[in-house]
Amino acid sequence: MRLDKMLADMGIGTRNEIRKACRDCRIAVNGEYVRNPAVHVDPESDRVTVDEEPVLYRKYMYFMLNKPQGVISAVRDNRMTVLDLIDCPVKGLYPVGRLDSDTEGLLLITNDGPLGHQLLSPKHHVEKEYHVTVKNPLKDSDTQRIASGLRIDGGEVCLPAKMILLDDLHCRIVITEGRYHQVKRMFRALDNEVTALKRIRMKHLVLDETLAPGEYRELTDDELNDLRGSTSEASAG
Ligand code: URA
Repeated sequence: MRLDKMLADMGIGTRNEIRKACRDCRIAVNGEYVRNPAVHVDPESDRVTVDEEPVLYRKYMYFMLNKPQGVISAVRDNRMTVLDLIDCPVKGLYPVGRLDSDTEGLLLITNDGPLGHQLLSPKHHVEKEYHVTVKNPLKDSDTQRIASGLRIDGGEVCLPAKMILLDDLHCRIVITEGRYHQVKRMFRALDNEVTALKRIRMKHLVLDETLAPGEYRELTDDELNDLRGSTSEASAG
């Protein structure tokens, strides 16, 4: 891999800035200053330093964010985005899926395109679990209707989903699709209204409740291995 690409991927600077840093003898590979930013390095085995500080290369980064309300699930927007909350210079980070601006909870932020694609692919039916607060008391029949596949907005039919009643106004729901405003539209189809929505799980990845809204942390190795595991067996049955 080219030295300037490695350093740019790690957020060290633009290609131009890195070229200048090379000219200024600020960048060394295995202890030798490098004047040519196009030189090839092996990020695994070569020791690259900028101003004598080692640069650790990591191809992919994975963060669990507790998304707060009022923040947009997008890479770029003129309002505050979830990426504005992540203090990491690595290039290519994006949110895996979208939560509405007023939804809070679990959002995976990564630059691992293949993993994100796998988790979002409709083929894989990855489970997403939400804690839901509604305006009107929930009914036992809601559970059955959700389990048998709810028709929303008089058209689309959702895949069967699982609803766990907590009390009159609270439940958890597990869905395996990612339709636009899906949970809110499902409860509208039940003549109800979602007043608060929080995602608490995606596949095996459970929101770390010690994270306050707006806080994030890197995934543990176990969490990452679980997420990478087979997606085909997931179901809301
Ligand atoms: N369903 C919704 O209605 N909103 C979300 O943010 C996520 C799922």
